[in-house]
Order: sequence, then C-alpha cells, then structure tokens
Amino acid sequence: PSRIRVHHLQQAKEQGEKFAMLTAYDVMMAEIFDEAGIEILLVGDSAANTVIGYESTLPISIDEMIIFTKAVANGSKRAMVVADLPFGSYEQSPAQAVDTAVRLMKEGHAHAVKMEGTAAYADHVRAMVLAGVPVIGHIGFTPQSEHALGGYRIQGRGDAVEGMKADALALQDAGAFCILMEMVPSPAAKLIDEALVVPTIGIGAGASTTGQVLVWQDMLGLGGRRTPKFVKKYADLRTTVSEAVSAYHQDVLAGTFPSAEYEFDK
Ligand code: KIV
Ligand code: NA
Repeated sequence: PSRIRVHHLQQAKEQGEKFAMLTAYDVMMAEIFDEAGIEILLVGDSAANTVIGYESTLPISIDEMIIFTKAVANGSKRAMVVADLPFGSYEQSPAQAVDTAVRLMKEGHAHAVKMEGTAAYADHVRAMVLAGVPVIGHIGFTPQSEHALGGYRIQGRGDAVEGMKADALALQDAGAFCILMEMVPSPAAKLIDEALVVPTIGIGAGASTTGQVLVWQDMLGLGGRRTPKFVKKYADLRTTVSEAVSAYHQDVLAGTFPSAEYEFDK
C-alpha cells in the first residue's frame, strides 16, 4: 500500500472526506492499526501516561519519544507516522525545535511532528518546515501547559474563539500542514475548520474537523483510569486481558497448564 502523505490529507479536506488518527507507541499495535487502515499513527507524548505511567506528559524525554517512534515506524507500512515534540524540547527557539524535530525524524523515523503552541510559535513552525519537517499545530487544550491553563479545561469558549482562530491561521501561514484541536466546543472547531485551508483533526472538538484522534488505550478500554466525555469505548480490553490472565493463573496453580498438547514428549 502506498504511504499516506500530506497531499492525501489535504485532498481529504478539499473533497469533504474524513481520515482517522490513532495513537500508537509500539510495533504490534502499530501493525494492527496500520493494517486496519488508520491514516495517521500518532506517537503522542501521552506515552508519558499510557506507557510509562508518569502523572502528566511533562516528564517524557526526547530519547524516550525516539524509542516509541522507532517502534511505531517499524510497524507501519502505509500510515503516516507523526511524533510529538515533548515538553521542553522546542520552546526556547526555532533552532531548538528544528534540532528536536530532526532527531525524531532521523533517529525515530517519524514522517512528521506535532507541536503544541499558539501563534507565538509560528517562527518555530516556519523553521521546521524550512528544514523539511511537516508540522501539525496542536491548539485548544494543550496538555503540556496543564499547569499554566489551570488543569484540563475546555478552551475557545465564548470570545476566546477569535484568539484561537488567529492562532490556527498563524500556524497555517507558517506552513503547518494540519491543525489539531483538543477540547474545543464544536461550534468553535467548526468555525476554525472553515477558516482554514489545511485539514483539521479533533479530539473533543465535535464532528466538523477533517479527522479525529483518540488515545488507543482509552478507545479500546485498556486503561483503568476514568476517560473523558469525548472518548467512545469500542472495546473492553481491560476485562478481556484480565480474564485471560486469571484463567492462565488458575490453570498454572491447578496444574492443568501445560496439558499434553503443549509439551514436548520426547
Ligand atoms: O499525546 C497525544 O496522545 C495527543 C493526542 C491526544 C492529540 O497529543
Ligand atoms: Na500530545
């Protein structure tokens, strides 16, 4: 299958079609999602929470992101692989953003990066694009700014939509090929999507964006944590895995595993 590229996503926006992004952090899930036809695999810094178990996304390092990105790239034949610029790895200057993005592509084999930030980061985007890095701008609720934003709060309510639209346009003008909006009221996301030429991706932003994204452990019901309102659970993997592991445990304690079919008798 030929690789999903920036122009395919642009085409989707122009033709009123949709595409799906899903997080991935390891080779096997990446293979499954890629074979299922998911267009974009996001190596999110949510790996901080979903893989490593940190309390926020802030502590994850570039080196950790590179390991997960490499694994996902190894599992993907068709999907575009996008890696997050982690907290502290790009804010200081456009040059720092280029350094980190280049590492994620050169060492992690990402095809593009995603950066949290407002219009104040337009120069960072411009520098990365100039270096040959396709960039997704992440606006709305940006988890790396959790402490500055006062927690997990919906962004772009009321008059704030105008500022958010200006951010989206500035990032687009700087060369971002896509804008991702997190936890934004649906009418605001619709207004911003319509103002942009480039495609949009939403999470907790309603149905008007070109694409949607979810964290895979949330949508497959693997996590024990409470999931936000915008997560639809398509499976209950936590129960499936837990029951299977308990069955194995009981078999071992009872001496019923391994039975004859699982042993070498000579
Ligand atoms: O890190 C992540 O998983 C993300 C998505 C939820 C958009 O940034
Ligand atoms: Na992220």
